[in-house]
Amino acid sequence: MIIAVDGPAASGKGTLARRLAGHFGLAYLDTGRTYRGVAAAMLAAAADLEDAHAAVRAAHDLDFEGLGTLELGTQEIGEGASRLAVIPELRAVLVKRQRGFAEEALAAGSGAVLDGRDIGTVVCPDAAVKLFVTASAQERARRRALELYGEAEGPRYRDLVEALELRDRRDRERAASPLRPADDAHVLDTTHLSADEAFFAAVRLVDKALAA
Ligand code: DC
Repeated sequence: MIIAVDGPAASGKGTLARRLAGHFGLAYLDTGRTYRGVAAAMLAAAADLEDAHAAVRAAHDLDFEGLGTLELGTQEIGEGASRLAVIPELRAVLVKRQRGFAEEALAAGSGAVLDGRDIGTVVCPDAAVKLFVTASAQERARRRALELYGEAEGPRYRDLVEALELRDRRDRERAASPLRPADDAHVLDTTHLSADEAFFAAVRLVDKALAA
């Protein structure tokens, strides 16, 4: 079984996807880290983030297995990943490798959970279950600010709201595989849900899809 989890930045989709993978005994791939891995490599090499050739090369060279060990959580890398993600040639390489991961997981056993922006629409359109996890920009910024700074007010918080809105807009408005729910996705709005409530709601959706 493949479970696709998509949604905007800081929607909590990563936490949810990882928990679902543990619960259902599935492999897990955070595809955002594949874009972030390319961004980190290009930033380290001081490469131009608009250079499609350099991006494609970095995507081929990217060590998928080693991704879990890299520090990729910075604002600079997230912003770089979002800028790189508009390059169709780069997306083609990463999507192929992400599909390879899903196929291997299916061949090896029970399957995988993949999270990102285009899993349900492009990477795994035949996924057994598709979740689109969202929350208001204010709520997502509030959670991220609490995580980063331990408070959700003041200038750093307001900068975060702005950065999130910019990233959302770029992810939604790009021509290549923009962020949007697949037609058959279940939209899970977590604005008023705790992490546990979101998880239980997601488990119910998956169980229902499996029973059908
Ligand atoms: O989920 P994240 O914040 O780690 O993702 C970083 C950026 O990578 C995001 O702004 C857009 C891009 N991305 C994408 O275009 N497609 C995906 N499947 C995953 C991430």
